[in-house]
This record gives sequence, structure tokens and C-alpha cells, in this order.
Amino acid sequence: MKPKVYVTRKLPESILQKLKRVCEVDMWEKEDVPVDRGILLDKVKHVDGLFCMLTDTIDKEVLRSGTHLKVVANLAVGYNNIDVDEATNRGIVVTNTPGVLTETTADLTFALLMATARRIVEASDYLKEGKWKSWSPMQLTGQDIYGATIGIIGMGRIAQALVKRTQGFDMNVLYYNRSRKKDLECDFNMTYTDLETLLRESDYVCILIPYRAEVHHLIGEKELALMKKNAILINTARGGIVDENALYSALKNRRIFGAGLDVFEEEPVPRNHPLLTLSNVVTLPHIGSSSETTRLKMAELVVENINLVLTGKSPLTPVNNP
Ligand code: GLV
Ligand code: GLV
Repeated sequence: MKPKVYVTRKLPESILQKLKRVCEVDMWEKEDVPVDRGILLDKVKHVDGLFCMLTDTIDKEVLRSGTHLKVVANLAVGYNNIDVDEATNRGIVVTNTPGVLTETTADLTFALLMATARRIVEASDYLKEGKWKSWSPMQLTGQDIYGATIGIIGMGRIAQALVKRTQGFDMNVLYYNRSRKKDLECDFNMTYTDLETLLRESDYVCILIPYRAEVHHLIGEKELALMKKNAILINTARGGIVDENALYSALKNRRIFGAGLDVFEEEPVPRNHPLLTLSNVVTLPHIGSSSETTRLKMAELVVENINLVLTGKSPLTPVNNP
């Protein structure tokens, strides 16, 4: 008998076929809506594996219901949606999708930085809305990217890929991270600083750390107040790292120049969210890793991780080691 797996979102057919070769698959059939909590709690009772999304909260209740569960495989590099300690205690392997999404997410981070600096979205709307009367000297002036100072919070895989992108723009790189990366400092001429120095000196502040309780609202009123008046905040990590109320005031009062956000404290962002009323913020619906190639690679990695665990082998990209 094949092991059973529940998939919490409709998958592309090619991925589903791969999974079906080795598992009996049951799947939530909707593409744009997360699985209903009650259904998840019921489905998990009967399966050996869970193929889940960052939109699913895999907490103690879910893990306790999964009495046969051997693997929880997340279609994301971040896994703050999963209670990993509880999974470990229950002997359940948790996996994520690092590596395959690194370059794509670094691309999007840099794209968001450029879009915010040069007011690309605002300028495009300006034209489409018929506001463009003439070329004019100080029209839609933004911030320069070349030669500017970028401060990166975190220096993991995606941050390192971002550093490579900054080199073509002759940017000066500062970084703040739990551990210092001396080898990279030589390769890329970047400087290790404390958070306060990074905030004071950077023209661009990019957040690229995983979310944990300790970094909740790491960037709040006090931190935003340290930033330069021309500075731009870019967040492609997790929304909870930034205090959105504080960010809203800083942007509204033009204490900083702008923000580019791919992630939010609450996703999807409520339609009446105050940040959505500001012209100096570029907002994206959490699409950091969203290229066709990369999303398929991520899904294939999830399938491989599930297969490996359910055939008694070690997964490629485990998060824990129960
Ligand atoms: C997306 O946010 C991911 O963690 O992969
Ligand atoms: C994620 O892959 C990171 O280390 O930034």
C-alpha cells in the first residue's frame, strides 16, 4: 500500500503526477484560498505526509491530530508557520525549500528596491491616469541606486545573492547579522556593523532574515527614526519583522523616502490597510520566489523530500532532526 499524503493547495498537474507515482494523494482543490482549518484538522488524521504552504498554520493542534504523520513539507524556505519543536517531539520531520529560490528572490528584492527608488509604479500610474502634461525638470524625481549605501539585515543565502547584484551598481554594502562573514567581506568589500550604524548610514535597508519571535517588530518607531530622510526600506522576508503602524507614520510624515514591501503582518493585506493609501510605498503580494521555473523547482523539492522520508531515507532539506 502506498503512503498517504494530503496537499493543502491545488498543484500543477506535472507535480501532482510525480507525487502520485509514490503516494496516494488527497488535495485541497482551490488555487487561491487556503484549506479550511476544520478540513485540515480532519485530513491530517489519515495521512503519513503533509505537503503544505506558508499560509497554513501547522501548530500543536494540527500536529497532534496527525497521529500517523511522518513528514510536514513546506513549499517555502521560511517555516515560521510550523511549530517545529512540537514536530520534533513527535518524531515528525519538517522540510523547507532553501537554495532553489535564492536567486529568484534576490532578483525580486533588487527589482523592488529599484522600483521604489525610481518611483516606477507611481510614475506608470501617473502616465496611465492622464496626469502627464509635459516633461518637467523635477518631475517624479527619485533616489540614485548606483554608488549608494545598502544595509542588509541578515547574511544568509538570499542576502549573499543580493550582494552580488549590488556590485554592478557600485554600491557600498553594510550588513548586520548574528555571525560575521569575514570571507565575504574580502570578496565583496562589505562592512559588518551593528544595527544602529546600519540604520543611520544606509540609503537602502533590506531585511533578509527569517522570522522568529525575537525579531518581531525589529524595525519599529525608534529604528525608523534613525534612518536617513532619503532612505528606503525593503522587506522581502516576513511582515512581522516591521511594525507597520510605525512604518506608516514614517512614510506619511516623509521621515523616510519610501518602502518596498513584498510581505505584510497580515496576508492578504486588508483592503483598507493605511499603507495602501500612500504613494511612496510599493506593495507586492508576497511574490519573492514567484518565477515559473523556481516555483516548479520548489514543488519538486517538496515532492522529493516527502518521498525520501516516506521511504525511510533522509530528506534533502530538513529543518529538524527528530
Ligand atoms: C516565501 O516567503 C518563502 O519563505 O519561501
Ligand atoms: C534563505 O534561503 C536565506 O538563507 O536567506
